[in-house]
Amino acid sequence: MQDLARVDEIIRTYEGERTPLIYILKDVQNEYGYLSDVVLTEVAKKVDIPLSEIYGVATFYSLFTTKPKGKYIIRCCNNASCHVNNSKEVLQKIREYLGLEMNETTSCGTFTLELTSCLGLCAVAPVMMINDEVYGNLTPEKAVAILKDYKMKGQANA
Ligand code: FES
Repeated sequence: MQDLARVDEIIRTYEGERTPLIYILKDVQNEYGYLSDVVLTEVAKKVDIPLSEIYGVATFYSLFTTKPKGKYIIRCCNNASCHVNNSKEVLQKIREYLGLEMNETTSCGTFTLELTSCLGLCAVAPVMMINDEVYGNLTPEKAVAILKDYKMKGQANA
Protein backbone atom coordinates (compact mmCIF):
# COMPACT_ATOMS: atom_id res chain seq x y z
CA MET A 1 0.00 0.00 0.00
CA GLN A 2 1.41 3.34 -1.07
CA ASP A 3 1.92 6.02 1.58
CA LEU A 4 -0.13 8.95 0.30
CA ALA A 5 0.74 11.48 3.01
CA ARG A 6 3.08 13.40 0.69
CA VAL A 7 0.26 13.94 -1.83
CA ASP A 8 -1.61 16.00 0.74
CA GLU A 9 1.52 17.94 1.74
CA ILE A 10 2.34 18.77 -1.90
CA ILE A 11 -1.21 19.94 -2.62
CA ARG A 12 -1.16 22.19 0.45
CA THR A 13 1.97 23.98 -0.86
CA TYR A 14 -0.10 25.17 -3.84
CA GLU A 15 -3.12 26.40 -1.92
CA GLY A 16 -4.40 29.70 -3.33
CA GLU A 17 -2.72 29.23 -6.74
CA ARG A 18 -4.95 29.56 -9.83
CA THR A 19 -4.06 26.57 -12.03
CA PRO A 20 -1.73 24.42 -10.04
CA LEU A 21 -2.70 20.95 -11.31
CA ILE A 22 0.27 20.52 -13.63
CA TYR A 23 2.65 21.63 -10.87
CA ILE A 24 1.00 19.33 -8.38
CA LEU A 25 1.33 16.38 -10.75
CA LYS A 26 4.97 17.24 -11.46
CA ASP A 27 5.81 17.35 -7.75
CA VAL A 28 3.80 14.22 -7.00
CA GLN A 29 5.60 12.37 -9.80
CA ASN A 30 8.97 13.52 -8.44
CA GLU A 31 7.97 12.18 -5.05
CA TYR A 32 6.56 8.82 -6.16
CA GLY A 33 8.53 8.22 -9.37
CA TYR A 34 5.39 7.92 -11.50
CA LEU A 35 1.68 8.66 -11.36
CA SER A 36 0.00 5.45 -10.25
CA ASP A 37 -3.79 4.96 -10.28
CA VAL A 38 -3.80 5.17 -6.49
CA VAL A 39 -1.86 8.43 -6.44
CA LEU A 40 -3.99 10.01 -9.19
CA THR A 41 -7.17 9.00 -7.37
CA GLU A 42 -5.85 10.67 -4.22
CA VAL A 43 -4.95 13.85 -6.13
CA ALA A 44 -8.44 13.94 -7.70
CA LYS A 45 -10.03 13.59 -4.27
CA LYS A 46 -7.87 16.29 -2.67
CA VAL A 47 -8.18 18.90 -5.43
CA ASP A 48 -11.82 18.05 -6.12
CA ILE A 49 -11.35 17.60 -9.86
CA PRO A 50 -12.86 14.56 -11.66
CA LEU A 51 -10.41 11.67 -11.97
CA SER A 52 -11.04 11.56 -15.75
CA GLU A 53 -9.75 15.12 -16.03
CA ILE A 54 -6.67 14.32 -13.94
CA TYR A 55 -5.98 11.29 -16.17
CA GLY A 56 -6.39 13.50 -19.21
CA VAL A 57 -3.60 15.80 -18.02
CA ALA A 58 -1.38 12.94 -16.79
CA THR A 59 -1.56 11.14 -20.13
CA PHE A 60 -1.42 14.20 -22.40
CA TYR A 61 1.95 15.63 -21.36
CA SER A 62 5.03 13.60 -22.16
CA LEU A 63 6.72 14.72 -18.96
CA PHE A 64 4.29 12.57 -17.00
CA THR A 65 4.33 8.82 -16.78
CA THR A 66 1.63 6.55 -15.41
CA LYS A 67 3.96 3.52 -15.41
CA PRO A 68 6.99 2.90 -13.22
CA LYS A 69 10.29 3.59 -14.96
CA GLY A 70 13.62 1.87 -14.65
CA LYS A 71 16.49 2.91 -12.42
CA TYR A 72 18.35 4.01 -15.56
CA ILE A 73 16.41 5.88 -18.23
CA ILE A 74 18.09 5.64 -21.61
CA ARG A 75 17.14 8.47 -23.94
CA CYS A 76 18.31 7.91 -27.50
CA CYS A 77 18.38 10.76 -29.97
CA ASN A 78 17.22 9.94 -33.47
CA ASN A 79 16.97 13.48 -34.85
CA ALA A 80 18.66 14.55 -38.10
CA SER A 81 22.36 14.65 -37.11
CA CYS A 82 22.12 11.49 -35.07
CA HIS A 83 20.08 9.80 -37.77
CA VAL A 84 22.70 10.45 -40.50
CA ASN A 85 25.36 9.12 -38.11
CA ASN A 86 23.69 5.71 -37.72
CA SER A 87 21.61 6.24 -34.61
CA LYS A 88 19.14 3.74 -36.07
CA GLU A 89 21.71 0.94 -35.85
CA VAL A 90 22.71 2.00 -32.34
CA LEU A 91 19.09 1.99 -31.26
CA GLN A 92 18.45 -1.38 -32.86
CA LYS A 93 21.42 -2.90 -31.02
CA ILE A 94 20.25 -1.43 -27.69
CA ARG A 95 16.75 -2.83 -28.27
CA GLU A 96 18.17 -6.26 -29.05
CA TYR A 97 20.53 -6.22 -26.08
CA LEU A 98 17.83 -5.22 -23.60
CA GLY A 99 14.95 -7.02 -25.33
CA LEU A 100 12.88 -3.83 -25.22
CA GLU A 101 10.67 -1.84 -27.51
CA MET A 102 10.53 1.93 -27.15
CA ASN A 103 9.04 3.23 -23.89
CA GLU A 104 9.33 -0.16 -22.22
CA THR A 105 11.10 -1.07 -19.00
CA THR A 106 13.06 -4.24 -18.36
CA SER A 107 11.26 -6.69 -16.07
CA CYS A 108 14.05 -6.30 -13.48
CA GLY A 109 13.31 -2.54 -13.38
CA THR A 110 16.86 -1.57 -14.36
CA PHE A 111 16.37 0.12 -17.76
CA THR A 112 13.71 2.16 -19.53
CA LEU A 113 14.26 2.95 -23.21
CA GLU A 114 12.96 6.18 -24.72
CA LEU A 115 13.56 8.44 -27.69
CA THR A 116 14.45 12.06 -27.16
CA SER A 117 14.55 15.08 -29.41
CA CYS A 118 17.91 16.70 -30.24
CA LEU A 119 20.09 17.05 -27.16
CA GLY A 120 22.09 19.90 -28.70
CA LEU A 121 25.16 17.69 -29.02
CA CYS A 122 25.02 17.05 -32.75
CA ALA A 123 28.81 17.47 -33.05
CA VAL A 124 29.22 14.13 -31.27
CA ALA A 125 26.23 12.37 -32.86
CA PRO A 126 24.88 9.79 -32.40
CA VAL A 127 24.09 10.54 -28.78
CA MET A 128 22.24 8.95 -25.89
CA MET A 129 21.66 10.01 -22.30
CA ILE A 130 21.42 7.65 -19.35
CA ASN A 131 19.80 9.59 -16.54
CA ASP A 132 21.96 12.76 -16.52
CA GLU A 133 25.04 11.34 -18.25
CA VAL A 134 25.59 11.98 -21.95
CA TYR A 135 27.35 9.56 -24.30
CA GLY A 136 28.38 10.60 -27.81
CA ASN A 137 30.11 9.22 -30.88
CA LEU A 138 28.23 6.00 -30.29
CA THR A 139 28.56 2.82 -32.25
CA PRO A 140 26.30 -0.15 -31.59
CA GLU A 141 29.19 -1.91 -29.80
CA LYS A 142 30.07 1.14 -27.69
CA ALA A 143 26.43 1.57 -26.65
CA VAL A 144 26.19 -2.05 -25.50
CA ALA A 145 29.49 -1.78 -23.60
CA ILE A 146 28.11 1.27 -21.76
CA LEU A 147 24.89 -0.58 -20.91
CA LYS A 148 26.88 -3.55 -19.60
CA ASP A 149 28.66 -1.19 -17.19
CA TYR A 150 25.32 0.16 -15.99
CA LYS A 151 23.97 -3.36 -15.60
CA MET A 152 26.92 -4.27 -13.38
CA LYS A 153 26.56 -1.02 -11.45
CA GLY A 154 22.84 -1.72 -10.99
CA GLN A 155 23.53 -5.23 -9.67
CA ALA A 156 26.29 -3.98 -7.36
CA ASN A 157 23.97 -1.36 -5.84
CA ALA A 158 20.98 -3.73 -5.56
S1 FES B 1 20.35 15.42 -33.54
FE1 FES B 1 20.97 14.12 -31.92
S2 FES B 1 22.01 15.46 -30.55
FE2 FES B 1 21.30 16.75 -32.13
